[in-house]
Amino acid sequence: AANKMWGGRFAAGPDAIMEAINASIDFDRRLARQDIEGSRAHAAMLAAQGIISDSDAQAIREGLLTVLSEIESGSFEFSTALEDIHMNVEARLKQLIGEPAGRLHTARSRNDQVATDFRLWVRDQCDAAVSGLEELQRALLAQAEAGAEWVMPGFTHLQTAQPVTWGHHMMAYVEMLGRDAGRFRDARARMNECPLGAAALAGTSFPIDRHATAAALGFDRPMANSLDAVSDRDFALEFLAAASLCAMHLSRLAEELVIWSSAQFRFVIMSDRFSTGSSIMPQKKNPDAAELIRAKIGRIMGANVGLMTVMKGLPLAYCKDTQEDKEPVFDAADTLMLSLAAMTGMVSDMTANREALAAAAGSGFSTATDLADWLVRELGLPFREAHHVTGALVALAEQRGCDLPELSLEDMQATHADITEGVFEVLGVENSVASRTSFGGTAPAQVRERIAEWKTRL
Ligand code: ARG
Repeated sequence: AANKMWGGRFAAGPDAIMEAINASIDFDRRLARQDIEGSRAHAAMLAAQGIISDSDAQAIREGLLTVLSEIESGSFEFSTALEDIHMNVEARLKQLIGEPAGRLHTARSRNDQVATDFRLWVRDQCDAAVSGLEELQRALLAQAEAGAEWVMPGFTHLQTAQPVTWGHHMMAYVEMLGRDAGRFRDARARMNECPLGAAALAGTSFPIDRHATAAALGFDRPMANSLDAVSDRDFALEFLAAASLCAMHLSRLAEELVIWSSAQFRFVIMSDRFSTGSSIMPQKKNPDAAELIRAKIGRIMGANVGLMTVMKGLPLAYCKDTQEDKEPVFDAADTLMLSLAAMTGMVSDMTANREALAAAAGSGFSTATDLADWLVRELGLPFREAHHVTGALVALAEQRGCDLPELSLEDMQATHADITEGVFEVLGVENSVASRTSFGGTAPAQVRERIAEWKTRL
């Protein structure tokens, strides 16, 4: 039998394989709430404009609420033959209220309908991402506050570079995640225009009020071009791009947690709640959640590349290709939210090992730069020469098998005669970090200022 929704010109129904490739109901049922919200706004507008009767609009709006409760309670029967969420909802509405259901689709197409539903859905996800990010930032902030002045090694090339503070390291991620949240906010603001009323592609001859539906759905305004409104999925791509950047940041933090929780580092102790064991090695406590978060970027970035590839080269206006927009976005959104939640749990639960951090902070000649700076400041050496003298002292310490502060004054003076006792003050890691008072530096005083600022923002 021909399709009930669009089969007027068809003698035969679709092949089962046609139905299988065409149907999106298995995934776009996630748009049910947005679809019904959009339809309710559309029906109210049609009545307000005198395009359908008030009683029809009321029947439609109430019927749609019934459909929504059926879907939410799980009693709704989805049908593949009805292709997608839009037709499933409308067909059920017809069963419930009869003839008026057929008037709902006046001055509307599934093209503007799906574009509207999907924007509403992605908009919600932007908000969810921002709150997820803020929770993680608060967890990092708590860690930073607890250890604002705890010293640890700072690395470049993953080789000991200069001492920093635990608080400073935690706050670096607070900054990154703050930009991530900003990207989701920006994307949300840009996507907050309503496609509804663009109809199939050209607009409609009915006297609709697009400003009214836009406002009813919480959009800032209707989209200004009907072709653009039904065609573009840049809003979904912006979400995926923001999600990719965020996942990249999470992946870096995850990698640090993996390294830090190893027996060789012992910088942090992960909680049992966010660790797993081995089925063969009884001693193991594995950071699986961190490893998985480190990996999730692959899916999220894959979704971004995948959808971008779908969209490139599509002629205006709507093409069925765009039905492929949903699964990558659903998956990326679910993956990101879960990653944020897991990272928040791990960060809140973990314990920084202050002693291990401090021991590592002083090793690896981490205050060599402080020594070079001292030679410049106190002896007036050009930095390049100071660098050279310090290098020779590092080589000497290495030879002796000790750290810089353990060299004797005689050793120092043998390398440069003018060095005095005062040099030992700058070789301590506590003094080193305390001296980095430039704006944004690792000095505890600076770190505390940044923490205080973020506390007012979060
Ligand atoms: N399921 C479709 C999608 O997700 C809805 C739009 C269908 N429009 C059409 N003209 N076939 O893109």
